[in-house]
Amino acid sequence: METNSGDKRMNLAVFSGRAHPDLARTVAARLEIKPGRCILADFPDHELNVAVLENLQGRDVFLIQPTQPPAADHLLELLLLADAARRAGAARLTAVIPYFGYARQDHRDETGKPVAARLIAELLSARFDRLMTVDLHNPAIEGFFAIPVEHLSAVKLLAKRLAPTAAEDTILVAPDLGAVKLAQKYARHLNLPVAYINKVRLSGEKVSVRGLIGEIGNRSAVVVDDMISTGGTILSAVDALLEGGARQPVTVAATHGLLTDRAQRKLADAAIGKIILTDSISPSANAHPAIERVSLARMIARTIQHMHESFRA
Ligand code: R5P
Repeated sequence: METNSGDKRMNLAVFSGRAHPDLARTVAARLEIKPGRCILADFPDHELNVAVLENLQGRDVFLIQPTQPPAADHLLELLLLADAARRAGAARLTAVIPYFGYARQDHRDETGKPVAARLIAELLSARFDRLMTVDLHNPAIEGFFAIPVEHLSAVKLLAKRLAPTAAEDTILVAPDLGAVKLAQKYARHLNLPVAYINKVRLSGEKVSVRGLIGEIGNRSAVVVDDMISTGGTILSAVDALLEGGARQPVTVAATHGLLTDRAQRKLADAAIGKIILTDSISPSANAHPAIERVSLARMIARTIQHMHESFRA
């Protein structure tokens, strides 16, 4: 997306890959600029066919693409767009990745495995000047990048949406030990206590609850996590909370709603009143009826604006 105005934004251009064009359009509209023209298609042999149809000489270019499923295709499309933009003259290139896929592969939990998050960070660092992302699964991933990272958080936005339903007896719940710091962050915004679940992952889809720390009896609970993928973590948390005497229904909040098909079905049967997510990932057509979305567009647009102010062509 590029500007056609004569103001200081004329050096700003925003492009979208195919992962989440709606979000990119909304961000561009907030910046009062027009979509950058590009080709995003597949060749007959399924190789990606990408082309930038703008002269980007000396311009500050932002490419918006969450690396949501199919993560490999979206990542490669983003890298091809970056290469095309650079060859079209872009002076500065920023990857805007609202959801950073492969983030859970941030360490070797078994020998023989790759550290995928690091590899992807290296690939992006080789093609981009800067990265903007939202609620990385593990904040330490920022250190994998050789370029500056603008790491935004949706917690404030989500907490604001939760606030009207949060009563004095509400308790925030971290569904695993990895979510403890996140839950504490919500707690600071909402001034609520936190309970913690000790979760063990048995497989990609199966988890088991080994314990719950906190006073949850007869309280309404809000489970907070960075992402919902298969829904296994949320479901086991909801079960443990109800078993422990929490009131029904449970509210859920997460930044990234990957929501595989199975997750939709599993969550539909659970005692969940509301699922609050952001639009970091494009919503699937058959989304759970209890889902409410909070848009990241304003925050992303403001950050682009802010980052662009430091640009000197
Ligand atoms: C795990 O460390 C993450 O924070 C999420 O709890 C997890 O990835 C969610 O996955 P699922 O919905 O498949 O349980």
